[in-house]
Amino acid sequence: LTVKDMVDEHVLVTAGPTREPFDPVRFITNYSSGKMGYAVATMARRRGATVTLVSGPVQLPIPAGVFHVSVSSAREMRDAVMAALPEATVVIKAAAVADYRPAVRQDQKIKKKNEDLTVKLERNPDIIHEIGAKKEDRILVGFAMESEHLVEHAIGKMVAKNMDFIVANDVTKEGAGFQGDTNIITILDRDGEMQELPLMDKMEAAGVILDKVREIRERRRSQ
Ligand code: C5P
Repeated sequence: LTVKDMVDEHVLVTAGPTREPFDPVRFITNYSSGKMGYAVATMARRRGATVTLVSGPVQLPIPAGVFHVSVSSAREMRDAVMAALPEATVVIKAAAVADYRPAVRQDQKIKKKNEDLTVKLERNPDIIHEIGAKKEDRILVGFAMESEHLVEHAIGKMVAKNMDFIVANDVTKEGAGFQGDTNIITILDRDGEMQELPLMDKMEAAGVILDKVREIRERRRSQ
């Protein structure tokens, strides 16, 4: 039995990788499976929240009862997130947004030649940074996947992007990261609290993340 403790929240979740095309058949992407974001969306819905899930291309079933928006590139994700933002009371950005995209997307398939090919990359919009700038009383949660200096890098991102808390994991650890069903997360918040969690199922990790959202909401209400 799940306690319906999020009925007053509209949770906007992003999940999965983005694809950045450089011609009609080729793109840059990353190994994100979408599992962490889908777990958050599933658990938030079970706890009674209204859920909008903006998802890059993944091989996962759509969780029951969520509004699902399918996108491909970072710019499409940005547009979908910004369109959904006004209704959202909580934003959880689990997507692995590509930081760069090919500067030019050729209309025709690039032909192979007897020489090397250089593709210029340009910066993608930082979606969570844009949300952080118009946060109002939303609770904003980001993720940080790091291979070194986990805590310092995560705190830097949380502050720079105006998040309420950040969920950090070390990609070099067995059982953490993109593809598997488990994760090893550390939650860091703006009050300097740090919660180092053991290896757990992504569904269970999603539950802990939503408990933290509830805690921040209660803390704000009592202030
Ligand atoms: O890529 P980075 O480690 O900075 O990601 C930290 C957080 O920022 C994540 O929650 C990610 O979803 C978000 N992000 C974003 N738009 C980007 C890059 C990252 O919203 N272009």
